[in-house]
Amino acid sequence: MVFYLVGNDSDFQDSQMRSFNVGGVEVMVVKIAGNYYAIGNVCTHRDCPLSDGFLEGYVVTCECHGFQFDVTTGEVVGIPLIDKEPSYEVKMEDGKVSVRV
Ligand code: FES
Repeated sequence: MVFYLVGNDSDFQDSQMRSFNVGGVEVMVVKIAGNYYAIGNVCTHRDCPLSDGFLEGYVVTCECHGFQFDVTTGEVVGIPLIDKEPSYEVKMEDGKVSVRV
């Protein structure tokens, strides 16, 4: 597993979900209250991009059919009828944001 640079800290606005192809993996990165989180960006239901969904607190709602995921863990919120999202380690050092996949 390797850390891939995805941008500068100043590139990320609070609670703005952004998508990246990181080492061939589709990842959604979000900064909330100064902390970074990264989970898979491809919804495990039917592949819609979670970064196009709606974020409320730490929960992203997929815009396609409304399934919800906790961005801190990738776990499904509510009844787990679908698979969780993978979650990825994010580090911010010297103003640079990197994701480990
Ligand atoms: S594709 Fe995300 S809820 Fe259906």
